[in-house]
Amino acid sequence: MKTYFITGGAGFIGSNYLHYVTSKYPNDYFVCLDALTYAGNYNNIRPLDEKGNYKFVQGNITDRQFVNQLFEQEKFDVVINFAAESHVDNSIKNPEIFLMTNIIGTEVLLDACVKYGITRYHQISTDEVYGDLPLDRPDLLFTEETPLKTSSPYSTSKASADLLVMAYHRTYGLPVTISRCSNNYGPFQFPEKLIPLTISRALNDEVIPVYGTGQNVRDWIHVHDHNVGVDLIVRNGKVGEIYNLGGHSERPNLSIVKTILAQMGKSDDLITFVEDRKGHDLRYAIASSKVEKELGWNRTYTFEEGINKTIKWYLDSQDWIDDIKSGSYQKAYKISKR
Ligand code: NAD
Ligand code: DAU
Repeated sequence: MKTYFITGGAGFIGSNYLHYVTSKYPNDYFVCLDALTYAGNYNNIRPLDEKGNYKFVQGNITDRQFVNQLFEQEKFDVVINFAAESHVDNSIKNPEIFLMTNIIGTEVLLDACVKYGITRYHQISTDEVYGDLPLDRPDLLFTEETPLKTSSPYSTSKASADLLVMAYHRTYGLPVTISRCSNNYGPFQFPEKLIPLTISRALNDEVIPVYGTGQNVRDWIHVHDHNVGVDLIVRNGKVGEIYNLGGHSERPNLSIVKTILAQMGKSDDLITFVEDRKGHDLRYAIASSKVEKELGWNRTYTFEEGINKTIKWYLDSQDWIDDIKSGSYQKAYKISKR
């Protein structure tokens, strides 16, 4: 039996991860720490309260004293850091909180790992650390050797965290791994990101803002495939290694929006082209051959299967969307404690 420390578990990817692993590994114990920022939604993880191998703690990864106390109490074996400020547009408006959470927060966790000892620290990183690729060179993909060349304050904070993780491995011998994944979609994604934003706005016949010409390309992966990859890397990956995870599903943004609208029986007239994002990365595309060859990982969802299932989830989860729109999701944890 191992004790896992999962940060950011009330967010999109972390909550999906917790649902997956708390069922798959009934003999392991999972402690979730989340600050419940605007992006953290206790409703995502409320059903896990019923489980005997799980506990939720509200707190901030930048709070060193609090984090150290938790390490002392719980004696973590494995730490997986999902916690982050994750929305690029917010980082363009307000970079500071990105540097605090994504860099300083990571450093606080790494220090605690050195101080108390762990068997593995895993950093959830992103393909955005590699910058972008040209639209007219489909032969080019990001590999683990692609140099870091960031565009936004968000991606710069994530790249900085990755460098810190590798520095703690070299300097203190900390047993670390890093995964860098492409754009995720699936249940529980905050409707500020392209896919849930499109679905939730289309439901109310609201306009869908498409940045620039809509030709920017992302490589989409279902969140479950990402989490299966994280689990494999944490359990079987080689210490000190970085692994890319990608969906083999490159699509221009406009085609994503049109696919969703068609699937929902809504008109393309909802599409509105708006001013482009500052510094907007053109194309992301991931080569996952390392994790495929070394750990036998492969994505299971085609984009078509995954997006249809995802749209259905949002249509069946309108209470979840309404709670976000009304703001009542931010009271969900307090109410659950009464
Ligand atoms: P998210 O914004 O949905 O969730 C982030 C979670 O972290 C929230 O629950 C939030 O409350 C929590 N959090 C934020 N600041 C915190 C702090 N200081 N202390 C404790 N908790 C804090 O993000 P996500 O999309 O689930 O992304 C999770 C991780 O995966 C991030 O590290 C992100 O960089 C990375 N990632 C995301 C994607 C994607 O497509 N969404 C792709 C690749 C990598
Ligand atoms: O590649 C991994 C990254 O994917 C993660 O590291 C980030 O945390 C995650 O947010 C995501 O970043 P993106 O910027 O690619 O995701 P977003 O959903 O914000 O935007 C996807 C694309 O859609 C991007 O080219 C911008 C565009 N877009 C986005 C929004 C919100 C629009 O055209 N209109 C919109 O309203």
